[in-house]
Amino acid sequence: MDFSPTEEQLLVRDTAHDAAERMLAPSAAARDVSGEFPVAELRALGKLGLLGIAVPEELGGANAGHVAYSLALQELARGDASVAVAVSVTNMVAELIATYATPEQAKRWVPPLVNGDLVCGAFGLSEPEAGSDAGAMRTVAEKTQTGWRLSGTKQWITSGDHAGVMIVWAVTDPGAGKASISAFIVPGNAKGLTVARLEDKMGIHGSSTAQLVFDGVELGDEAMLGVRGRGFALAMVALDGGRIGIASQAVGIARGALESAIRYAGERKTFGQPIIKHQAIAAMLADAATWLDASALMALRAAYLKQEQQPFAQAAAMAKLFATEHGWKICDIALQVHGGYGYVRDFPVERALRDIRVTRIYEGTSEIQRIVISRNLLRSSS
Ligand code: CAA
Repeated sequence: MDFSPTEEQLLVRDTAHDAAERMLAPSAAARDVSGEFPVAELRALGKLGLLGIAVPEELGGANAGHVAYSLALQELARGDASVAVAVSVTNMVAELIATYATPEQAKRWVPPLVNGDLVCGAFGLSEPEAGSDAGAMRTVAEKTQTGWRLSGTKQWITSGDHAGVMIVWAVTDPGAGKASISAFIVPGNAKGLTVARLEDKMGIHGSSTAQLVFDGVELGDEAMLGVRGRGFALAMVALDGGRIGIASQAVGIARGALESAIRYAGERKTFGQPIIKHQAIAAMLADAATWLDASALMALRAAYLKQEQQPFAQAAAMAKLFATEHGWKICDIALQVHGGYGYVRDFPVERALRDIRVTRIYEGTSEIQRIVISRNLLRSSS
């Protein structure tokens, strides 16, 4: 399996690297303090083609594939994890609409989403009592004469208060099990949609996390995405791809932290020599660098398989599980290497540790990834 990057993929990576260095990294610490949502940054990333990396050109995307997507997200997350998650979710939403929408829906929503005019997209699946068990949702869409009336509460919605468009899942056919759920394309400014709460989080402060209430939101028939009753599978397919994004985000955050630790360990002296010469420190850095390489390769393998239209759900779940669990350990090592300086805000590693923690939770917790992986093992052994 050769998934070494092509020139085009490297160009996308370098575009993201340059944007992250120039536009994101210098203001990331300030965003962490202020919690300001990166509207201007997202619009600018849209103009660079980074909000629709694997979306076809005829819909305004960069059509550069999923390996380029993973490489770009790693770079953006190294610059600012908060911006990277908004970019990841927007790419996921844009791709989902581009793949399953009617030509009219796709033409209406995808170009303005990927060029940044709509700022970003949101993924309205989770609810206060339906997170890991996404199929237990209670939001309903009742049929009306002209379309659908949407009522319910969505929880943990990344960018929910800024998204120009979101995909919202709701029960359309109560009693039909997973076949009761359908997906809808909902404008961010829909009448009856309110932001009930913004979460006060441990990290990724520049990313907003909203509770959204849909109080009889009227939608036309044309709002349904895909086939009625097939919405749950649509969410699962999107999450399979989204997990490549979060694995890539974790790689980027961990890479930034490790680079900082290696730099610091080369400069900081104790007992008459740079601390990198002490075996205890060197061994920690060696472990961290090995985990990081494995994580990046796993993310790229999953991206490559998706791009080649081969089964990739298992590889994506494994990449997310490994990259986020080890990314957390890498950031902890990076902080430890900095000693007391790691625990204060003068160096970026304490932010990295806070930012990376959520990657073990969103887009499917590590426990859910293990369910996905083990179910696939059972399936392939029978
Ligand atoms: N691809 C296609 N179809 C799939 C699928 C996949 N990967 N996984 C399941 N399905 C289909 C099944 O074939 C089945 O279809 P039929 O009924 O027609 O046979 C249907 O979906 C139901 O499947 P399961 O019985 O396996 O469903 P389940 O209830 O046991 O749940 C689960 C499976 C994997 C645990 C799932 O609930 C899950 O992924 N949960 C985690 C949810 C999650 O990741 N949430 C993240 C929220 S989004 C987010 O965090 C974004 C953000 O803001 C950063």
